[in-house]
Amino acid sequence: MKSLVNKNILLGVTGGIAAYKSAEIVRHLKKSGSAVRVIMTKSAEEFITPLTLQALSGNRVSTDLLDVESEAAMGHIELAKWADAILIAPATANTIAKLSSGRGDDLLSTTTLAFDGPVSLAPAMNQTMWRDDRTQENLEKLKTKEFKIFGPGSGEQACGDIGLGRMLEPLEILQLFSSSFNQEEMSGKSILITAGPTQEPIDPVRYITNRSSGKMGYSLAEAAIQSGAEVTLISGPVHIDPPEKCNFIPIETAVEMYEAVMHHIKGKDVYIGTAAVADYSPANFNESKIKKEESSSSLTLELQKNRDILKSVSKLANRPYVVGFAAETDDLLDNAEKKLINKGLDLIIANDVSNKEIGFDSDDNEVTLITTTEKKYLEKQNKKKISKKIIEFISLAVTN
Ligand code: C5P
Repeated sequence: MKSLVNKNILLGVTGGIAAYKSAEIVRHLKKSGSAVRVIMTKSAEEFITPLTLQALSGNRVSTDLLDVESEAAMGHIELAKWADAILIAPATANTIAKLSSGRGDDLLSTTTLAFDGPVSLAPAMNQTMWRDDRTQENLEKLKTKEFKIFGPGSGEQACGDIGLGRMLEPLEILQLFSSSFNQEEMSGKSILITAGPTQEPIDPVRYITNRSSGKMGYSLAEAAIQSGAEVTLISGPVHIDPPEKCNFIPIETAVEMYEAVMHHIKGKDVYIGTAAVADYSPANFNESKIKKEESSSSLTLELQKNRDILKSVSKLANRPYVVGFAAETDDLLDNAEKKLINKGLDLIIANDVSNKEIGFDSDDNEVTLITTTEKKYLEKQNKKKISKKIIEFISLAVTN
């Protein structure tokens, strides 16, 4: 269960007799090296106490959606942001129905709704409830939303019935969870990513720059780490924290970014240039602040062209798989295709920045992946999800 090391796992426990087995699940999760937080539904508390799961997980168990104290410590949004994956075991027919219809009337259903990542369920219920059309329809709907369903098993049930509906054993659940959670398709690969803007100083207090929040590059770095890759992130100044598990190299200017890339590119399997590198920098840096001239209504700055880092990487001997971004306002696909060819790239990601909903500062994006032989459109979705799909696409190219 190597794939669970250092992962943040949120375990949801709902109210079925199998809830007593969740203590064993917490123990296995902890043993596999993950950090565990537990959310219990009200009815789960009738079967096992929060204290047991708190002692085993080493974290306070969350139970209430509207509890001031727990919301202040870690509310549903924080829990959803904290988790790398959610596992609900046991998952009752009631919770499955709530998840399927998108209801959020308790802490577990609300947190799952607010969570943007993999959710796995280990159903546990009476065999008639399991066979019921409505339960099966709910599960089918959840499967289309990429929920993973583990089990249930068959056999004698707590109620005396015999049939399908028993929760799988904790170790079986853990094995399925571990292999589904992280395919590590980029394991053994190393990736260099550039992100953010560059800042080109005019004098000690002024600079010219490009608009870039860094969100796309940082979430690609995170997705690449999740896929098992070793990640180096070279970034201009942004307001977000870099992923913990990357080699982070902060820079400011286009020249510094060029030098850092050339220094770190050797041996890399993939290069992804998301940075909004300034095309031009002031030709001369003024050592002291340029004064406002009362007698003149204009100021002329001479700019000189910066090297194209992406193009330089694609020209290297033993070059990695090279990926560029085309942030365009007009003729998106045409311009992106031209860039793919002109810069000699393996893949270009076309991104319409005239659309405010998916543009610079937004959390969403909608892109088209273009190679010389293929075009793949990824519909509007969270940058985290888009990043995962981009990394999956790249992994197919570099691991085959
Ligand atoms: O030519 P244009 O700037 O539109 O191309 C965008 C792509 O080229 C992005 O992937 C960006 O990171 C990269 N780029 C670069 N060095 C530059 C300018 C852009 O690597 N000087």
